[in-house]
Amino acid sequence: MEVIIRPTAEDAADLVARIIAKELRANPNLVLGLATGRTMESVYAILARMCRDEQLDFSLCRTFNLDEYVGLTARDPHSYRHYMNHHLFGRVNIDPRNTHLPDGMAADLDAECARYEEQITRCGGIDLQLLGIGRAGHLGFNEPLSAFRSRTRVKALAPVTRTQNAPLFDHPDEVPHRAITMGVGTILDARRCLLLAKGAGKADIVAKAVEGPITAMISATTLQLHAHCRVVVDESAAANLLGGEYYRWIFDNEPEWETFR
Ligand code: GLP
Repeated sequence: MEVIIRPTAEDAADLVARIIAKELRANPNLVLGLATGRTMESVYAILARMCRDEQLDFSLCRTFNLDEYVGLTARDPHSYRHYMNHHLFGRVNIDPRNTHLPDGMAADLDAECARYEEQITRCGGIDLQLLGIGRAGHLGFNEPLSAFRSRTRVKALAPVTRTQNAPLFDHPDEVPHRAITMGVGTILDARRCLLLAKGAGKADIVAKAVEGPITAMISATTLQLHAHCRVVVDESAAANLLGGEYYRWIFDNEPEWETFR
């Protein structure tokens, strides 16, 4: 795992967007795993600007989102499909047919989960998976006790998750109780993972995810098992990390980061 600490939330989002842009320029057919949440809004705004001003080309890119609420239609403003259309897909030159999210309205949810896994496999697997982190440490909606080998499936949302996401709904009771989410195993199969966290509210969980013991209670700790995982944080989210000095030295000195400094 590599941890990169940037001074501000804007710098952290900018670095993540530039890493994605570099991958997409190197491979226009990139299979990109995407995430939702407030953290990603600035990343998508930067990617949209790069598409508009710097010819960043999404026309051949395929995307798979981590998760979707059960019971919300694509038109529901709280659905992740709506979020993605609004923040990214409607603002870049991506072919809508190449954008994939689980269908939380499917009559047979288990069949939908299996179909989603098959689609990922048919596209050759995910090249780069973008990730946020919930305050309790979930990836996607892999709530506490999610198995390390879990695949895309329906998960009941933990109370802490429903509370965390409640401000995005008109009323806390409206937060769905279930979601379809890629499994921990699905995420760990991605060739590269890229997690972004910002703000003091994430400092505790970032330290646990990066430096704490691996546990199914905190699905983000499983990223320690991944061979190519980068974690980008701002100074506020990095506050509780023990190895901050070491991580900063690597970013400032290692040749692989030269073009990003
Ligand atoms: C939701 C999503 C996660 C995301 C998390 C963090 O629970 N399912 O994928 O990481 O929110 O959201 P935020 O960026 O708003 O803190």
